[in-house]
Amino acid sequence: MKSTLSSNTLGIYSPLFSLVITLALLSLGSNVHAATGAETYQQVCAACHTTGINNAPKLGNKTQWGKLIKEGQANISADGYYGVRAMPARGGNANLTVAEFAAAVVYLANQAGAKWQDPDQAMLKTINERLAKKQAQAANKKS
Ligand code: HEC
Repeated sequence: MKSTLSSNTLGIYSPLFSLVITLALLSLGSNVHAATGAETYQQVCAACHTTGINNAPKLGNKTQWGKLIKEGQANISADGYYGVRAMPARGGNANLTVAEFAAAVVYLANQAGAKWQDPDQAMLKTINERLAKKQAQAANKKS
């Protein structure tokens, strides 16, 4: 009798329990505000890309960005996140996620006439694959 009761109790409460957990996670997710591309640009990238320090391609410069736009969203997002020549990895902010960095790249490219979208899952996958390739190449060079 006792065991029937407890399995009933579980049967009723486990869906409710998962709902509570789901709601808790959802509210957690919305508290952790993911920065927009424009915000990340202002906070992290503007220091170099507004003035063009060290030949950083300037915000809104169609000649400089035109070439990069042709290289493609996945390529320049991965290169920039990884670091390329005078461009520091993640724009020098180790806490930036690939999605946040790539959204700032979209902001930069669109200011120079591109019509890129914030990266969706497929785009993030392509960027991450390119990053993995770069990391593997770097590891090979060291050994
Ligand atoms: C400390 C200065 C500095 C900061 C901060 C910085 N950049 Fe750059 N960035 C550069 C320079 C310099 C280059 C040019 C690199 C070269 O070609 O020599 C560059 C190049 C790039 C490129 C082109 C990469 C390629 O494939 O040639 C992208 C994309 C880019 N930056 C995005 C960003 C984004 C997004 C941020 C902010 C999250 C950022 N940068 C922050 C200096 C900076």
